Order: sequence, then C-alpha cells, then structure tokens
Amino acid sequence: MRTQVAIIGAGPAGLLLSHMLHLRGIDSVIIESRSREAIEATIRAGVLEQSTVDLMTEIGAGERMKREGFVHHGFELRFAGRSHRINLHDLAKGRVITVYAQHEVLKDLIALRLRTGGQIHFEAKATGLEDVTSDQPRVRFTTKDDEDKELACDFIAGCDGSHGVSRAAIPEGSVRQDYFRVYPFGWFGILAKAPPSSDELIYAHHERGFALVSTRSPDVQRMYFQCDPNDAVDNWPDERIWAELQARTAGEGFRLKEGPIFQKGIIPLRSFVCEPMQHGRLFLAGDAAHTVPPTGAKGLNLAAADVHVLARGLSAYYATGSTELLGDYSRTALRRVWRAQHFSWWMTSMLHRFHEGTAFDLKRQLAELDLVTSSRAAATTVAENYVGLPLT
Ligand code: FAD
Ligand code: DHB
Repeated sequence: MRTQVAIIGAGPAGLLLSHMLHLRGIDSVIIESRSREAIEATIRAGVLEQSTVDLMTEIGAGERMKREGFVHHGFELRFAGRSHRINLHDLAKGRVITVYAQHEVLKDLIALRLRTGGQIHFEAKATGLEDVTSDQPRVRFTTKDDEDKELACDFIAGCDGSHGVSRAAIPEGSVRQDYFRVYPFGWFGILAKAPPSSDELIYAHHERGFALVSTRSPDVQRMYFQCDPNDAVDNWPDERIWAELQARTAGEGFRLKEGPIFQKGIIPLRSFVCEPMQHGRLFLAGDAAHTVPPTGAKGLNLAAADVHVLARGLSAYYATGSTELLGDYSRTALRRVWRAQHFSWWMTSMLHRFHEGTAFDLKRQLAELDLVTSSRAAATTVAENYVGLPLT
C-alpha cells in the first residue's frame, strides 16, 4: 500500500488533517486502532473555540454543529458562594465558544471523510514506524483480521493521542525532550438526564474542591468534580455525586437540577509537551505531542490548530517542493501549545484544592479570583485565552 500522507489515528487531529489535505488534492490513508462505533461513543471534550468552529465550517463539516451546538457568549466563575460572569463576547472582541461534544465532531468528520472517498482503516493498529528520517518512511500495522501490513508514504502524521506509538519514533534524549507535570487530583465526569441548571458553563471554586457545570442538550447535562485520581467510580452512587456537586456550587439560592446519571468516569490530570514535534518526515499533532489538564478546555482545539499548521506546510510542499513551512512546523505549533499549557495550568491552580494546600493557598486563590472578576484587564486575559488565539 502507498499514499502521500500516512495518518495514524482517527481522532480530531487525524480526521481534520485528512480532510484538509483532501481539499488540497493530497492523498492520505488513516490507520485507526479502534472501531468506528467505539470512537463515536467515547465521551470526551465539549468546548470548541471560535477558530475550531470556523475551521470546521470552512472545510464543510460545520452544518450539524451550527444547528445543534450551543453558542455561549460568556461563562460563570463561582467562588465564596457567589457567581461572577466573564463576558467573552464583550472582552474578546466578539469571539465566543460553542458547546458541541467531541464525539459529535468525530461523527461529522468520519461521515464527511467517507462520503468524499477518504480511506480510514478501522481496527487497524499501527505497530511501528520505519525510516522516518529517509524520504521513504513506512508505517507497519496489523489489520482487524490479524494480517501484518505496511503503508509506504512521503510523510507520516502521528495523530495517535497520548498512548500512541508515533512519539516513540523520535529518539528520547538525543532528539526528544519531554516536559511533564502530574496533578494530585483527577476529574469525575458524569452525564445526567436532566434539564440545564444554567444558561452558561459554571467553573466553581470551593473548599471541598473544583466543580464544573456544562451541558450537552436540553435534556442531557455534563458535569465534573475534582476527585482523587485513584478513586473508583463504584464508590460514587448517584446520591453522593449530587450531594457533592450541590455543595460545591451552592450559594445565592442556586440549586442544580438533578436527574438519573447514565455515564460516570474518572480522568487523571496531566500537563505534557514533547519537543520537537517533528523528526525527519514524521510530524506529531494533537495529544500525541501534548496533553493539557481539561480546565482550560484546550485539548481538542490545540489538535485542530496543530493540523491547520501542518496542512499548510504539506500543501506548500506538494505545490512548490518547498520544505520551508514544514521545517517551521514544530516551532509554530509549540508557541501556541505553550500558551495553552500556561493557561490550562493557571486555571487549574486557581480553581482546584491542593491536598498539601494551606490556608494561605486558599486565600491566594480567592484573591486571584477576585482579581479576574473585578479588573477588566485581568478578565480580558482570561477571556482572550479561553476563546483561543486566531489560527496562524
Ligand atoms: P485522540 O482523540 O486521542 O485520538 C487519537 C486516536 O488514535 C484514537 O482514536 C486512538 O484510538 C488512535 N490510536 C492510538 N494508538 C494507535 C495506534 N497504535 N494505531 C492506530 N491508531 C491509534 N479538549 C478541548 O479542547 N475542550 C474540552 O472541553 C475538553 N474536555 C475534555 C474532557 C475530558 C473528560 C477529556 C478526557 C478530554 C477533554 N479534552 C478537551 C481533550 C480532548 O479530548 C483531546 O485533547 C483530543 O481528543 C485530542 O485529539 P487527538 O486527535 O490528538 O487525539
Ligand atoms: C467541558 C469540558 C471541559 O474540559 C471544560 O473546560 C468545559 C466543558 C465539557 O465537556 O463540556
């Protein structure tokens, strides 16, 4: 098998890249280890930045998102029992966010890619990358019938998420440097059949720990609360979850609207960056190269921003033979990545309870929250970072 660009992973990064390349007349093949059904059923992100929405629309994948997504002009910061609104639209010059679930984005992209002749090999696991520093790299993979195959190509895009195989093809130490931070807490995420409790997202700071109120539809709500990353879902019956969420969001008479919880999961929080994001003809994009704690809602959006830069570099190469933009990929992408890393770390440190934290830390967080909700300059910093930078 041969193609121009071999893409490992059919997450947001791989699918967006494949379709952007297709629109520029460049062939690609996607190798994806999971089934289409599994991908379309995995619950993850929910917040799309303005530029991700614009990109989806521009490539013709935005129709259902425009119809079913929720545009939010602001969000609430709740602390010391009171709510304070960050007016994104006003502070970030008209830029806003859209709440539309990641698996809906993936359903739209997979359908579009298959409708336009895209090749996605589901249940095919990449097992190794060969000769990435030559001009004839190859991806070895195993098909769902357990056959070993090889995909020869001009370039490899490693879009295989944080547990993929691509990153390991960049020699650690001599070429690759990893930057890592593990937080002493995780997020307990739920989906509940209930009406919305708020028109906008609520990020709540509380002595018991952080809580986040988000939405999916008029009758399905998405919520998270800070938890021990080693805790077990089974320790949390519905009544205990609601009591915890109610306690962390209480104040000014606010009550969450409760309902049956039909999905529960715990995720660890990490910050991670691998540098560089390129080695020879291998380019890493999305979670394969970096992970952010979800507090800033940046992960999916960074994946989209990476492949936007990569698609431009690849199209310049196929149009003119120039490798200038491709050579600049890692530097260009990493600038945005580190901005998002800083913002996600900062939001996390402002809103979460640290187990080793002291009374001083709590006071420091409240002072910071006071600053970002009372100073227009500080609120503008939050808003501009939250809606995201325009694509470069
Ligand atoms: P992935 O989505 O991980 O896709 C990688 C794909 O590669 C997978 O389908 C995987 O099966 C496949 N793969 C892996 N190994 C192999 C292999 N060897 N061979 C073939 N295929 C392979 N981000 C936001 O922007 N906003 C949010 O609001 C937000 N909230 C989040 C909430 C939660 C609970 C979680 C868990 C994440 C959240 N994120 C958010 C982060 C976001 O989900 C990720 O950053 C995003 O999925 C990254 O996309 P990706 O394409 O790089 O990787
Ligand atoms: C959602 C996830 C996030 O990480 C976030 O910061 C806001 C919303 C969500 O899943 O809706």
